[in-house]
Amino acid sequence: METRILKINKECPEEKPLLEAAEVIKQGGLVAFPTETVYGLGGNAMDPNASARIYEAKGRPSDNPLIVHIAKFTDLKMITREIPEKAEALAKKFWPGPLTMIFYKAENVPYSTTGGLETVAVRMPNHKAALAFIEAAGGFIAAPSANVSGKPSPTIASHVLEDLNGAIDMVLDGGSVGIGIESTILDLTVEPPMILRPGYITQEMLQEVIGEVVMDPGVSSEKGESRERPKAPGMRYRHYAPKAELSIVEGEQDRVIERINEIAKDYMDSGQRVGVIATEETKNLYHASVVKSIGFREDEEMIARQLYGILREFDESQVDAIYSEAFETPKMGQAIMNRLLKAAGYRVIYVPGRHWKKNYRKLLFVCNGGTCRSPMAKAIFESMELKRPLQVEARGFVSLFPEPLNQKTEAILAANGLKLEGYSSEELKGEEITENTLILAMDESLRKKICEKFPEHTETYNYTDFVGENGDINNPYGDSLADYGACYTQLKEMAEKLAEKINQEEEE
Ligand code: TXA
Ligand code: MG
Repeated sequence: METRILKINKECPEEKPLLEAAEVIKQGGLVAFPTETVYGLGGNAMDPNASARIYEAKGRPSDNPLIVHIAKFTDLKMITREIPEKAEALAKKFWPGPLTMIFYKAENVPYSTTGGLETVAVRMPNHKAALAFIEAAGGFIAAPSANVSGKPSPTIASHVLEDLNGAIDMVLDGGSVGIGIESTILDLTVEPPMILRPGYITQEMLQEVIGEVVMDPGVSSEKGESRERPKAPGMRYRHYAPKAELSIVEGEQDRVIERINEIAKDYMDSGQRVGVIATEETKNLYHASVVKSIGFREDEEMIARQLYGILREFDESQVDAIYSEAFETPKMGQAIMNRLLKAAGYRVIYVPGRHWKKNYRKLLFVCNGGTCRSPMAKAIFESMELKRPLQVEARGFVSLFPEPLNQKTEAILAANGLKLEGYSSEELKGEEITENTLILAMDESLRKKICEKFPEHTETYNYTDFVGENGDINNPYGDSLADYGACYTQLKEMAEKLAEKINQEEEE
């Protein structure tokens, strides 16, 4: 089949393409068309064969219901059994617009459109060309997003063609969409009404109009952990996914950048290509094969609009893996993160911040063998004044049998009026690491080893890094007394910074 592409003006749609597209629908064919959210793949909602063709073209499981698009509120009563008052209030406020509502269906709506359900999803798009097309084509257009099942939804006509060229009759090309992620879906057949898919219209916005609205627990919970199945069938499928494996890295911005760069370096060192989804603020700070900016962090409309396009672009850039920052924006953040998490198959790397946490009860300094740097760190730190008590210990990453303090360490401590009586080295053991334990490693390679050995524990940092400094605590082992002295000076400086940080952050 040849797919015809007709340009259409989204503000003042021309009659010719509208009539041609309407004719295709009336003949039982399929037309992809722009809306304010994403492009839809339209067929006559009242024709079971048209719905069947939609499923076939998309490669979509036929138990996944379609949204019926209408152009006038009065048409709603033709396809629903009843219209709750709340729906009327919401339609008044948000239609035409990016809100889909679920009602009990009238008998004339074919089960092939509703995926066998007794309910029907209805939406009136806020898009002049879409409304004119729906009207001209008879008033009821069943349309899922116009992508092949599993791929990101299309936000420009060429995305539609990438997926469906040759499989559908026509594409109305109205340029780029406004919002970029799919409509909010609200189920009005339950009380209180439930959001089945977050979108541009947020829970707060809905609650302002109709009072309590709840979020489907299956939407926010993570795959695997979830005991709840999402209630919208389509939300259960793998979705929006680029070809390369995508992971989200979450945490304080500079930590996230650091971690992504670390990971990217490992990939590139082994000859692989890695992509990064960054923001305008951070894009120049990454060292990766491909870095794409999704927009300014505060501009959530832009982030939403660019998301699917960027996921698609990565399919052309031959990367082996993609790492993305997280975008917890105030309004649409939930909708954006919901799509991003699905695209990532819920792979999230959480990078802990270097905040002092009030629940820390134990501090473990760790060096290689537990005989010089960590006991020195312990002795120095214990001489600091803290606003609250803290258990402080020194450990070796490997310490097969107890050894006394290194002699030069002892000498340097003594010269500074400090001693550790009866000290002998101990190995860092899993049993003593609780969630209230902060581990400070003396250097970066140790930090990595500790993280690898105790992957459950997220509170391990490089000592210098934790207090906001760079580099490692140099290992003086086997060097001169002067080197031990230099180590002392460095540890003293870190201890002062750490004590100050703790006392300050305890107060906040
Ligand atoms: O913004 C949008 O909503 C776009 C544009 C084209 O309008 N459409 C769209 O359709 O995103 P689609 O098919 O990709 O997503 C529809 C979602 C699916 O997750 C589906 O399972 C759910 O709506 N859905 C449809 N009817 C339903 C029903 N009766 N009960 C529960 N979920 C339903
Ligand atoms: Mg879809």
